[in-house]
Amino acid sequence: MRRLINDAMDRHVGPMRILGSCAGEGRDMFGVLSERDNAQRLTATLVELHPDIAERARAAASAFPATHVEVRIVNAGNTDAYVGAVPADLVLRVGIFGNISDVDLWRTIAATP
Ligand SMILES: C[S@@+](CC[C@H](N)C(=O)[O-])C[C@H]1O[C@@H](n2cnc3c(N)ncnc32)[C@H](O)[C@@H]1O
Repeated sequence: MRRLINDAMDRHVGPMRILGSCAGEGRDMFGVLSERDNAQRLTATLVELHPDIAERARAAASAFPATHVEVRIVNAGNTDAYVGAVPADLVLRVGIFGNISDVDLWRTIAATP
């Protein structure tokens, strides 16, 4: 995942907006930021349901003061969770398929460019 995120950041020129669904602690994204020196061009919204996990994501974000990271403690299954965070240049849906039904899984894949 980190390699794919890193590649996406390499390909994208200029300001970049990232959205993470079921983002957990955001280890995938923060792991990449820690290896790059242009984190200031990024804006990220992380959607995580569990308050304790979201707090850990916020703590991780504090290591990157140049990057605007918003961690939302909301249900990623509601479209309201994404208001103001889309369109995004990179959408991370990492580790979400264990949390949804098979029908929703296929619908999500079909709806994802
Ligand atoms: C496998 S983890 C994601 C790990 C993340 N990609 C990383 O690298 O740190 C999946 C996360 O989805 C969260 N989650 C499960 N159902 C959710 C929902 N309906 N809305 C938001 N987050 C949810 C869980 O609390 C868990 O933290």
